[in-house]
Amino acid sequence: MGNFITKYGPWAVITGGTSGTGYQFALKLATQGFHLVLIARDEQALEETKERIESRYHVQVKTIATDLLTPDSISVIKKITQFIEVGLVINNAGYSITGEFHRGDWEDQSELLETIVKAPIALTHLFVNEMITHGRGGIIFVSSAVAYTSMPLWSVYSAGKAALLHFGESISQEVKKYNIDVLTVCPGAMKTKFQERSGIQSPILMEPEKVARLSLSYLGKKTTFLPGMTNRIIFQGLGRVLPNRIRLPLFESLMKKSQL
Ligand SMILES: NC(=O)c1ccc[n+]([C@@H]2O[C@H](COP(=O)([O-])OP(=O)(O)OC[C@H]3O[C@@H](n4cnc5c(N)ncnc54)[C@H](OP(=O)(O)O)[C@@H]3O)[C@@H](O)[C@H]2O)c1
Repeated sequence: MGNFITKYGPWAVITGGTSGTGYQFALKLATQGFHLVLIARDEQALEETKERIESRYHVQVKTIATDLLTPDSISVIKKITQFIEVGLVINNAGYSITGEFHRGDWEDQSELLETIVKAPIALTHLFVNEMITHGRGGIIFVSSAVAYTSMPLWSVYSAGKAALLHFGESISQEVKKYNIDVLTVCPGAMKTKFQERSGIQSPILMEPEKVARLSLSYLGKKTTFLPGMTNRIIFQGLGRVLPNRIRLPLFESLMKKSQL
């Protein structure tokens, strides 16, 4: 991460920068001297995070309290970032809805897609042209290991994360020639509020600090990254080679066991 500021530019935008993985990205980038724009819904958490980071590091922190599923959130972000050079965008905010699709409320499922698919793509569109103009930039998408397989009881979430993985891979090729690095990270279960919020409890949990640290170290070196050997075996290995008649019931039973 030595020359990150020179390589990418002075400001980093992090969605979901108040908690879990996003907060770890924020700390790592503040250590490097990046000024931060943190985006989340909880205004108090944003203010506390801003105070904590500004008191520890010599960086500026702007906060944007907005719900990424709302149509006007992108224009709010555009307005607040219009006079700064955004060199890094960490599309991290997300959550999941657990359970059988037909039992869930459609509005909730639709909002999930807005948050985990449409918002990161819209934010990329907002910032990528400016990056091209400056001839430098980096974008990280936090997808999920389930992007590599279909996941019963997480049908919308796994479909959304797969869409994000495909978008991240495609755009990484498109913008490479403009000196913009794109990495799509596909973590397995991590020790964050996500687990409780999703109503699941996974037996093996990675530290979000490790995921953020490794992700930043691979930006510019890889286009995708699935942290953890066990995760790679389960999701990139079994998730892709097992026939559907074995794979789908297996993943459904794993999800049932994880449900709180
Ligand atoms: N933890 C895991 O097991 C796991 C595994 C694979 C992938 N992931 C992915 O990792 C990413 C980060 O999650 P995490 O594990 O760090 O969870 P987390 O601790 O719950 O953090 C989620 C962050 O996203 C923000 N957020 C959620 N919905 C938002 C919305 N609609 N608009 C704006 N901000 C929103 C939250 O703040 P507010 O609530 O204040 O808005 C919070 O800052 C997510 O994309 C998740 O899908 C997590």
